[in-house]
Amino acid sequence: MATILDGKKTADRKLAVLREKIEDSALSPHLATVIAGTDPASLMYVRMKHKACEQVGITSVGITLPENAPTRTVVDTVLELNRDADIDGILVQLPLPAQVDSRRVIAAVHPGKDVDGFHPENLGLLFSGRPKFTPCTPTGIMALLAEYTIPVAGSRAVVVGRSIDVGRPMSALLTNADATVTVCHSKTRNLEEEIRRADILVSAIGKAHFITPAMVRPGAVVVDVGINHLDGKLVGDVDFEAVKKIASAITPVPGGVGPMTIATLMENTCRAAKERTCDRAL
Ligand SMILES: NC(=O)c1ccc[n+]([C@@H]2O[C@H](COP(=O)([O-])OP(=O)(O)OC[C@H]3O[C@@H](n4cnc5c(N)ncnc54)[C@H](OP(=O)(O)O)[C@@H]3O)[C@@H](O)[C@H]2O)c1
Repeated sequence: MATILDGKKTADRKLAVLREKIEDSALSPHLATVIAGTDPASLMYVRMKHKACEQVGITSVGITLPENAPTRTVVDTVLELNRDADIDGILVQLPLPAQVDSRRVIAAVHPGKDVDGFHPENLGLLFSGRPKFTPCTPTGIMALLAEYTIPVAGSRAVVVGRSIDVGRPMSALLTNADATVTVCHSKTRNLEEEIRRADILVSAIGKAHFITPAMVRPGAVVVDVGINHLDGKLVGDVDFEAVKKIASAITPVPGGVGPMTIATLMENTCRAAKERTCDRAL
């Protein structure tokens, strides 16, 4: 039976350590979130992020824009936060409404305040092997693998999904950690065969119970990023109950990757505060 990679426990411990570090430092980190519209899932994620801020002693402010806000309004909001000397980190909750050009909004965030790690400059640094701010979900996954001393170097890793927030940065972080990485997506031929080769499998598709035991190599480490609703329950991309019988380690949903994402956001915000304080002191 697989080891359960307990993201909740690991994240709680990380948040407690971070709280102490903030208390012991002269830092008073400040995060701003920007949301457009009233999508219930997005509102819930933003609430969870503000709650984590409170838990660790980060001041946070939330800006809510109307559902019909044009790109210009969202960009102007971000530019104002860039100029605000009190703000260390800016998080724009995605997805933005369809009329908003998300790429323009992300590019507007100052790279030094880009605690989500989605700005092209930060993604470029990550892909060139000199990471600075890296996207929270894949970074949280790397931290969880490290917590359970799962060897990454030399392993064969398969990432299913190639989104800019999860799949692509995940592949870069694994590559930087010396894994041999295959990225799969909806056009991948022989998908099952590719997945079955994984020592470390990361699924970020968004399809309930897509990954079945037949697709998983016995002994593989299985990381489930997916958040899906099935019969009124929150489930991942992986058929957890069946796959845990053959995997060597597996993340649950909920309680796996999600809490690690939020803990990483808190760490990135503290880092931004620290770097901005140092910059001001020089
Ligand atoms: N736990 C967390 O903290 C966290 C954070 C972020 C996201 N998530 C969850 O993770 C999931 C993925 O998120 P995302 O933002 O990466 O989603 P996304 O932007 O929709 O990307 C999904 C990816 O999965 C691929 N895909 C879809 N169906 C597939 C199939 N049948 N076979 C192979 N590949 C397939 C897509 O391929 P194409 O590129 O070819 O279309 C795409 O690359 C969602 O459930 C999301 O809610 C969780």
